[in-house]
Amino acid sequence: MNRDTIGAVAAYHHRTKHDFDRYARSPGYMDWANQPDPFRRYNGTETLALPFLDADPEADHAALYRSSLQPEPFGLETVAGFLELSVGLSAWKAYGNSRWSLRMNPSSGNLHPTETHLLMPPMPGIEPGVYHYRVIEHALELRAVPEPETWQGIRNHMGGNGFLVGLTTIFWREAWKYGERAFRYCNHDVGHALAALRFSAGLFGWRLFLLGGMSDRDIEILLGLDRTPWHPGEEEHPDLVAFVCATGDPPCARELPETVLERFASAPYFGKPAPLSRRTRRWEIIEETADKTRKPRTETPEMVEVRQPLQRETREEAVLGAAQIIRRRRSATAFDPDATMDQGSFFSMLDRTLPRSTDAPFDVGLGPPAVHLAVFVHRVAGVPPGIYLLVRDEAEGDVLREECDSGFFWHRVRNGFPLFLLRSGDVRVEAIEVSCHQEIAGFSAFSVGMLGRFSEVFRSGPHRYRHLFWETGMIGQVLYLEAEARGYRGTGIGCFFDDPVHAMLGLATDTFQSLYHFTVGAPVEDPRLTTHPPYFHLEENHDSRT
Ligand SMILES: Cc1cc2nc3c(=O)[nH]c(=O)nc-3n(C[C@H](O)[C@H](O)[C@H](O)COP(=O)(O)O)c2cc1C
Repeated sequence: MNRDTIGAVAAYHHRTKHDFDRYARSPGYMDWANQPDPFRRYNGTETLALPFLDADPEADHAALYRSSLQPEPFGLETVAGFLELSVGLSAWKAYGNSRWSLRMNPSSGNLHPTETHLLMPPMPGIEPGVYHYRVIEHALELRAVPEPETWQGIRNHMGGNGFLVGLTTIFWREAWKYGERAFRYCNHDVGHALAALRFSAGLFGWRLFLLGGMSDRDIEILLGLDRTPWHPGEEEHPDLVAFVCATGDPPCARELPETVLERFASAPYFGKPAPLSRRTRRWEIIEETADKTRKPRTETPEMVEVRQPLQRETREEAVLGAAQIIRRRRSATAFDPDATMDQGSFFSMLDRTLPRSTDAPFDVGLGPPAVHLAVFVHRVAGVPPGIYLLVRDEAEGDVLREECDSGFFWHRVRNGFPLFLLRSGDVRVEAIEVSCHQEIAGFSAFSVGMLGRFSEVFRSGPHRYRHLFWETGMIGQVLYLEAEARGYRGTGIGCFFDDPVHAMLGLATDTFQSLYHFTVGAPVEDPRLTTHPPYFHLEENHDSRT
């Protein structure tokens, strides 16, 4: 492993920290004339309009994590439903003359740098091929038709039916607003989208495994990213490819054989991406860091072992069905500072962020858990305010103790649950201050700082820097859904002052770094906004054509 590369990635991380007197480099203003289009279109492709779900899958809250549903057959309707409930639109919001769409998956600044692709073997209603998901129209754009033997090769190798889903990132969409820190945000968004795909798969009785041995180069070949005429600066960068198969099928292979890749490599890819902006601005440090964190072929990461039994008290609410929870997920923009969260919700929510090989979403095979949660408790009934630590992998408990402030209590709050009180007291003001002065971090019931095992993960390669952010995004997605299910609401917080957070915890080295924050509480709605259904614009367009 190249020490210079690791040093450069760590340097990117330090350089893009926010602090009280210094924000990471960004444009400093909103260049509205060049705002990137959040919806990619590949011009010149055949388009397949996808049907919308007539009825949502009947699955309760608990089924989000462990689905015992009969697997649905793979076909046009079910694959369309899988996309609708993971990366589809969830609503439009309007204020005055402006209106903007929201999606099932959240995104920093609602800029949505993540694109979704499918590799579809023959199945009812869909011609086999490589497709790009055109979100705004809920449609597939056909990008390639590899030779028919390709699909048989995949099926034989995987040992069963299923299809592949890929994610890619357009850094420019985030960098347009956030500049150098955008690389981090894009990777959080990948984690959110990955968890969203995993949860949605479960509602159809399917599982989802990362093909974790593959390289970024392999993903470029599969998705044709290396044969696409990009507008400079608007390229899609490879993130991941996962296999979706029926629950109950034996665990499948987690990479693709060379012979299959060769077939994709020789296929022509159709379509020219429509430009996203009139002009793009280069952020060299993002390009360099993307380059230095490219994933080579590796051993397939081990699946996470069950390390933590589910808490007996963890209860899923019976009020909302799983699909309703997904559809209602939104970010809170304000909280009621006087509201108190009930203790059961607090513990159940945290419990669901623990990695378990039997439960979504941490069963996708990203590798060993490397993120722990510093929990700032503000208003939870029966849980005194203070700073707590949720040790998501108890094997790392000793390192955390060594690294954190030596004066902390480390008092285990409940038997059998890895939550420790570090120091008690009101931390609302501190939480707000270190979260770029955002009130949502302190007016909530609790907020969290996600501590990544920073220097250690580099041992398994610089690409693991991206995976740390994916893991935090996945944790964020769990918190979003859990909050929604229990009548609360969450918000991801990408803007925080990195080293002041470390100072609060006494962290003085690079062993752990705070990578992402999150806050959960009782939301206060903004009455000025109106809401429209997610695809009402399609009817509007249709009406204006007829
Ligand atoms: C990685 C990430 C970072 C975010 N950071 C912030 C933040 O610092 N402050 C904030 O108010 N919202 C933040 N958000 C919330 C987004 O603004 C929100 O997801 C987006 O506007 C879309 O709205 P929705 O989540 O309701 O779909 C963040 C979301 C994500 C996924």
